[in-house]
Formats: sequence, C-alpha cells, structure tokens
Amino acid sequence: MDIDTSALFAPIVINGHTVKNRISVAPMTRITATEDGRATEMMTRYYERFARGGFGTVITEGIYTDQTFSQGYVGQPGMTDEAQANAWKPTVSGIKAHGALAIAQMMHAGAISQGNRFRDTTVGPSPIQPKGEQMTFYHGKGRYALPSEITEAQIADAINGFAESAKRAIEVAEFDAIEIHGANGYLLDQFLTEYANNRADQWGGPTENRVRLILETLKAVRGKVGAKVPVGVRISQGKVNDHQHKWADGERDAEIIFGSLSEAGADFIHVTEFEAWKPAFAPAGPSLMHLAKRYAPKAAIFANGSLHNVEQAVAALDDGADIVTIGRGALANPDLPRRLSDQGLLNDFDPTILGPLANIKETELVM
Ligand SMILES: Cc1cc2nc3c(=O)[nH]c(=O)nc-3n(C[C@H](O)[C@H](O)[C@H](O)COP(=O)(O)O)c2cc1C
Repeated sequence: MDIDTSALFAPIVINGHTVKNRISVAPMTRITATEDGRATEMMTRYYERFARGGFGTVITEGIYTDQTFSQGYVGQPGMTDEAQANAWKPTVSGIKAHGALAIAQMMHAGAISQGNRFRDTTVGPSPIQPKGEQMTFYHGKGRYALPSEITEAQIADAINGFAESAKRAIEVAEFDAIEIHGANGYLLDQFLTEYANNRADQWGGPTENRVRLILETLKAVRGKVGAKVPVGVRISQGKVNDHQHKWADGERDAEIIFGSLSEAGADFIHVTEFEAWKPAFAPAGPSLMHLAKRYAPKAAIFANGSLHNVEQAVAALDDGADIVTIGRGALANPDLPRRLSDQGLLNDFDPTILGPLANIKETELVM
C-alpha cells in the first residue's frame, strides 16, 4: 500500500529560514576530527552525502564548546577557536550546497566526559558518581570519573563557552542555526536530573531551578548570535548512561521545561525518546513530542526516536512534530528522503558500522 508522504515534503519556516522538507539528520558523534578538534575532509564527505540525499536539515554531532571541561570524547570536533571554526567551513558549505539547513549542535559533556585533552578531571552539578559505564566505541573503559562540583565561576565559563562557540559557528563556520545539547545525560541535562543534582543554590532543587542552566545558556547564545539565527534546544528523559530515566513529576515537568524554553525564545525544541510515538509517561498518555507542542506552541518541534519507518514519520507530524530527525536510519540510508519520496525500500541499520570504534568508515562514503 502506498503511503501519502506529502506532509514530509512540505516546507516549513523556522525563524525566517525556509527548510525544504520535514526530514532531518539527527546529531551523531563520530569521533573523526583531528586530535586538536578540527573537522576533517572525511567529515565533509560524510555530512554532504545526507544533504545530497535529500535531507532538508542536517544537525551535526555534538561539538565541544570550551577549552576547559566541555570535551567529551577523543576525536570529537570543537568550536573553541578560529582554527576549529574555520575547519568546519567546507563541511557547512557542502551541506548548504544541496539546499539543506546546517545546524551546529553545541555540547558540554560535564560529568560524563570520557576523553578531554584539556583536563584530567570532570565537573558536574554535584560530586555524584554518574550511572553507567563509558562508551567503548568512543575509546572509553570502565566507570565514569567522580566529578567535582562545578563552581559558580565555572558555570559562568561554561555558559560563555556555549555563547562564544555559537557565535563562531554562525559567523566563522557559517552554520545557519544552533542546537544547544540539553539532553542525553550531558552537562545541561545533568543539572535537570534530580539524582545528578543535589545543589541547594539557584541551580538545584525544584524543576524550575534545575532547568535554569539550560535557559541561561539559551539566553546567552541568543545574545551572541542575534534574533535572526534559529536557536533550539535538545531535550530528553533518557540518557546515554541511563536509557530508562523518566522525569519524576511527569507532565508537570514537561509543562515547566517546554513552557520555560518557549518563553525564553527557543525557535525549536528537539525531543528524543527511544520510540517517539510512545506515551512519555507510561503506561498511557501523550508522547513527549505532543507535550512539547502543547506547552511550546510557538516553537518548531523536532522529534526523534525510531522514526525511520515511513508510517511512524508521517504519524509523528500529526502528533506534534514539525520535523522528524533520523539517526540510525540515516546511517543506513544517507538518501532516505529520496527513497521515501520514491516509495523505495530502506536498508536496515547495520550496527557494525559503529564498531569497533564509532569513527566514520570509508565504506560509508561510497554512494
Ligand atoms: C553513533 C551515534 C552517535 C550519537 N551522537 C549524538 C550526539 O552527538 N548528540 C546527540 O544529541 N545525540 C546523539 N545520538 C543520538 C541520536 O541523535 C538519536 O537520538 C538516536 O540515534 C535515536 O534516533 P534513531 O532511532 O533515529 O537512531 C547519537 C546516536 C548514535 C547512533
């Protein structure tokens, strides 16, 4: 049976920028930068394929934002100086050459940093051992380090790192838009997460306080890039080191988080769940993308999580999503939008692409 995919190919305007369709590449860390954090020619070829394959938006992997505590992985690219920003230029122009919107994801790894050439120690909201284990496909091994409690001055530095890096991403590398990584267990999400944050100051306690660092980061980024650049935030419940996590106050937390992001002027909110269509708070009830749209009706909602299946992707657009973002399905099908519009078959994702390390493989680049 043919599925009507036309909704996936309708343009949308985000803060004055027209995006040609509703299908985006999800951010994926591939540890293929130089040792000193410069994007490489291989990355240019890798990212350009997605744009050539018809994706309307390409979101980069998480890019580290300062030369102190933000770097998470060996081989991760940064945006912390002119050399790193310049190195992104060919990749950005390759994405834009095919008419896709180029979004830079800005990331601070915080307590789950497992490879940082600037520091041997980590910081987090509180000195609490992170759950889970380091990722071996990103050169990690064993438990995460016990972080130090990040000081007020270090928080100011972290915010400033996001803001200055975002400015470089726009002005030097020439990205179209910025995504702040507030999800998946990294620094900003550590603040949001009750069990990782037992601070007694303005950054800890009730959800309104725990979301504050995300809001302050958003405001600082906005202050540096100006009103006309689309700026969004990625939000999740699950984490790379705790897949099953759920917000303790359920829908009330969703209202506070999405509502405050909307008030703070997020142009888009990118929500991610394992399966985007499932109730956000089991056993029943609305999905997280639905709640994001409900409490942030002015923001474009990007939804992620097992949406490579065309029926699920189309249905997501009826359930609050404005754009669907595809991770593993894009690795398996860099031309996924073309295949969907031609009602073509999709390749299954082959996890061996990401082993033994998650670096980009030459075999991915022949298309
Ligand atoms: C290899 C790999 C690297 C990832 N790196 C990032 C990242 O840098 N930033 C991020 O926000 N999410 C990252 N993710 C999560 C994806 O953006 C996405 O949420 C996940 O793959 C689920 O979407 P999917 O079902 O379409 O694959 C990564 C996922 C994979 C598979």
